Amino acid sequence: MNFLTIDDLSLDGKTVFLRVDLNTPIDPKSGELLELNRISEASVSVRDLANCKLVIGSHQGRPGRYDYIPLDKHAIALSNVLKRPVQYIEDIVGPAAQKAIDSLSPGDILLLDNLRFMTEENMEFSAEQASKTIMVQRLYRHFEGCVLDAFPTGHRAHPSIVGFSHLLPTGSGRLVAKELKALNRILTVVKGPFVTVLGGAKVSDRLGAIDTLIANRRADKVLLSGVIANVFLKASGKLKGSISAEEEKFVPKARTLMDEYSETFQLPLDVVVERNGETAEIKMEDLQPDEKIYDIGPETIDYFSRIIRSSGTIFMSGPPGFFEDPRFGKGTEKLLRAMSSSLGTTIVSGGHLSAALERFGIKEWIDHVSTAGGALVLYLAGKRLPLMEALENAAERMKK
Ligand code: 3PG
Repeated sequence: MNFLTIDDLSLDGKTVFLRVDLNTPIDPKSGELLELNRISEASVSVRDLANCKLVIGSHQGRPGRYDYIPLDKHAIALSNVLKRPVQYIEDIVGPAAQKAIDSLSPGDILLLDNLRFMTEENMEFSAEQASKTIMVQRLYRHFEGCVLDAFPTGHRAHPSIVGFSHLLPTGSGRLVAKELKALNRILTVVKGPFVTVLGGAKVSDRLGAIDTLIANRRADKVLLSGVIANVFLKASGKLKGSISAEEEKFVPKARTLMDEYSETFQLPLDVVVERNGETAEIKMEDLQPDEKIYDIGPETIDYFSRIIRSSGTIFMSGPPGFFEDPRFGKGTEKLLRAMSSSLGTTIVSGGHLSAALERFGIKEWIDHVSTAGGALVLYLAGKRLPLMEALENAAERMKK
């Protein structure tokens, strides 16, 4: 490893900024946290920084989405996991946050509000630019060290990931080490064929990495569901209705990929929709232009499951259906069960699938359940993650 860790930094008694990823699936109706996986994974570093004045930063959701909420519930959940008080402040860089940070004693833990409530934290920067953002400039003088442990946000060059680490002694937390160790162990003995199962609501990271995954033999077959499948269905002319302008942007890229790798992509054959308040399983060609797809149908489940069971390595990122609503959970459950009973090596990625594995009671049957979603896709595709770069640059700087 070319970077430092908590153990190298002598942080006891110091004021430390810990960037974790507490971004958690949220129940769309109640607004409650649906699972605690990332929170309990983050708690390991928090425990190991128990003698510091600890300031924790995280994001939750994205602007404009239903899961873009404050972190008060996360503070309670973290406190329950740790069995220690966690203070929460509805502020990030203002006088209230600065005062709260300066009032900490060793052993205290303070969680700032959702960092993405600051526009800057939704933008990508070079390390130098990030170090000049308001967030970093207002806060870094209050800190004596920085620990980066947000492996699932490792693909974002956001101020909290690459800015503080440009100015402060910085090392990695426990989750970064755990993820890298597990992935390296699995990837050195990986067997083909390699199947990548992509779903979920986020398209851009996954689409951006697919060609590299295919070129690096990390995706001999790509099974598509969720919003990314809609983009490919649209590109192949099988989806008559409209998709959002945001998704429409990705259609040309999907078309190019399908032209180049015609045998690789497998699209849903049938889907689940809502008709007159009831769920309906219908063939792709029967989908009406105004109907929204909520899950893959039984024929697709069967077809994808057979491919999964006959593969050497299976990587799944993003749920195939809107499983938060149990009426649309069959695709997610059945594909995860196919993975759990496969003789191949299995990697499941991201918070939603981790929650689904918990719900179906089969988490222990998967070889590695990564906390990372999009970051893992990029990591597997061999892209350099800004968080890893920030850690390496900080180590280099500190050596000098
Ligand atoms: C994730 O869930 O993949 C991470 O928290 C990053 O979230 P983002 O894709 O909204 O940047």
